Amino acid sequence: MSEKTILRALKGEVLPVPPIWMMRQAGRYLPEYRATRAKAGDFLSLCYNPELAAEVTLQPIRRYGFDAAILFADILLLPQALGADLWFVTGEGPRLSTITDRAGFDALKPASDVHAVLAPIYQTVKILARELPKDTTLIGFAGAPWTVATYMIAGRGTPDQAPAHALIAENRPVFEALIERITEGTIEYLSAQIEAGADCVKLFDSWAGSLSGEDFDRYALAPTRRIIAELKARHPDIPIIAFPREAGARYIGFAKATGADCVAIDNSVSPEWAAAHVQVDGCVQGNLASAHMVTGGEALVQETRAIVRAFSKGPHIFNLGHGITPDADPDNVQRMIDAVRGG
Ligand code: CP3
Repeated sequence: MSEKTILRALKGEVLPVPPIWMMRQAGRYLPEYRATRAKAGDFLSLCYNPELAAEVTLQPIRRYGFDAAILFADILLLPQALGADLWFVTGEGPRLSTITDRAGFDALKPASDVHAVLAPIYQTVKILARELPKDTTLIGFAGAPWTVATYMIAGRGTPDQAPAHALIAENRPVFEALIERITEGTIEYLSAQIEAGADCVKLFDSWAGSLSGEDFDRYALAPTRRIIAELKARHPDIPIIAFPREAGARYIGFAKATGADCVAIDNSVSPEWAAAHVQVDGCVQGNLASAHMVTGGEALVQETRAIVRAFSKGPHIFNLGHGITPDADPDNVQRMIDAVRGG
């Protein structure tokens, strides 16, 4: 039996206290992150600097003793490795060159080329595998193809993913070729993270909720299933967490349909509902609203306890429903951890 609590939960074990980590746990709410980021220069320079990226990954482990560390990187490094231009505008977010037609797609590199750009990320994983406490799980990650495609098509984050939906309507073959290229690149990227020492991997499908009906099956579910099948063929013992954010009723059966070992859920579904409909198939991760990390108080403690209670009869990894925000109070993170571990 594995000693790492997160791996035990991912294998279906019901633990007396759920293990805990937090999406975006290395981030701007922490003064030590802001200091290291200032040293690196900009965000992308931090991602591609293995020593400093490992340092910010370790910071929340040192401060809080989380059960898992998540590799510090970004889902948009893969498009960059496929040949897209990528930069971040301070206060606004990511910008990429756009893909709107066949010529744009044809300019991309083959999936087997991604390692040239992503090699420093594998180096970060190697440092972390060496330096993390032995009982801390190292989580690698990538974006799921649909979410990555929405950024590659629009060139930025969009509230409704309209440009990606428009490409589906206007040029489905190019859209599907793009999904396939991202899928193949993601398999390469995650395999290399696993070979460098990641204990498990997570697929972030942040915009899964904007797909409906058959498009959800084709572009959220099927690529996730393909990535998981290929990773399991290459690395049978590696657990995989899928996060089809805001999937709502489509969370039901998602683990079975994709082969994921765990489904991460956002806070738009109640823990009682998720326990009844999602946890029946295996491990669930989630789902405290990240706003509690800003507002704190008794509501934070009560809600944390309610989530722990609702999921207590099955395998559960405690987490937020989405990433912690820069305006969060680091003391509220400690309050959440105390409420999970101390009851
Ligand atoms: O601690 C961790 O969770 C690991 C690192 C991580 C980052 N991004 C670092 C980051 C992870 C897992 C991600 C995933 C990611 N990146 C997603 C999927 C999850 C989600 O949030 O829905 C998405 C959509 C992205 C793309 C992205 N990266 C956006 C839209 C932004 C700008 C928004 C923002 O928060 O500023 C980023 C930047 C980013 N990625 C930051 C961090 C710590 C902030 C950059 C900074 O320091 O200025």
